[in-house]
Amino acid sequence: MKTILVSGGSSTLGSAICRHFIARGDRVLCAYHMSGDQARRLSEELGPRLRPLALDLQDPDSVRRAVESIETLDVLVNNSGILSETALGELPLEEWRRIFAVNVEGMVLLSQACIPLLRSSSGAIVNIASINALHPGFGKTVHYDASKGAVVSFTQSLAAELAPAVRVNAVAPGLLAAPHLDTTHPLRRRYEERALLRSLVEPDEVAKAVALLCDCRAMTGQTIVVDGGYLAG
Ligand SMILES: NC(=O)c1ccc[n+]([C@@H]2O[C@H](COP(=O)([O-])OP(=O)(O)OC[C@H]3O[C@@H](n4cnc5c(N)ncnc54)[C@H](OP(=O)(O)O)[C@@H]3O)[C@@H](O)[C@H]2O)c1
Repeated sequence: MKTILVSGGSSTLGSAICRHFIARGDRVLCAYHMSGDQARRLSEELGPRLRPLALDLQDPDSVRRAVESIETLDVLVNNSGILSETALGELPLEEWRRIFAVNVEGMVLLSQACIPLLRSSSGAIVNIASINALHPGFGKTVHYDASKGAVVSFTQSLAAELAPAVRVNAVAPGLLAAPHLDTTHPLRRRYEERALLRSLVEPDEVAKAVALLCDCRAMTGQTIVVDGGYLAG
């Protein structure tokens, strides 16, 4: 039984990752910032192998406290990430910094804090990037796209630094299926027109890719794309 820490564990993708690892028989630390109620509901639903864990990635003390409460760790999934849409011309510097504080600095802080635990278990890190890191031009998300580009290079560099003890990989999902993206939503229609598989990406398909990167001992420094064939379309 492995122990997996998932940041943003109550989010659309985070909860799918938590469910996937619980179904495999692993133990999951479901980290939350504002969504404590959702994390507790997930724990009631999935049982005591899922433990909610308070974590604010913008607060180094919160990161330290959270990691100090963990005894063993096999996998860190850096899933937390935030998005906003503003053209760069109108983007306040504070908004650029807010996106980078969670998507990049938060990932760096949490990874740093977990390295000793992961070295002890010969564990793995999986970072959640986005196809926006590889395919610019969805519009008004230069700050988000750049932050996810940083996730991809952080993944490659950290993999080199931590090898061979700890493997570090990333998954770059396409647009995830979510309740607000109903069949008439223009973003969904545009995505489905181009994606070879003609559909949005189900979060549990991304969770399968995360699990593959945890298990496959021949992979490190890689970013795998899970986008329903959007980039190939
Ligand atoms: N949705 C998509 O279509 C899509 C596509 C490609 C990539 N992604 C990436 O996939 C990941 C999950 O996306 P999602 O759409 O499932 O997320 P989401 O539902 O928008 O939720 C964002 C998550 O980030 C966490 N978070 C925000 N600020 C935080 C902080 N200061 N400290 C710790 N956690 C914080 C939130 O935790 P609380 O709710 O507990 O505050 C929440 O779990 C993100 O990295 C995102 O960029 C998403």
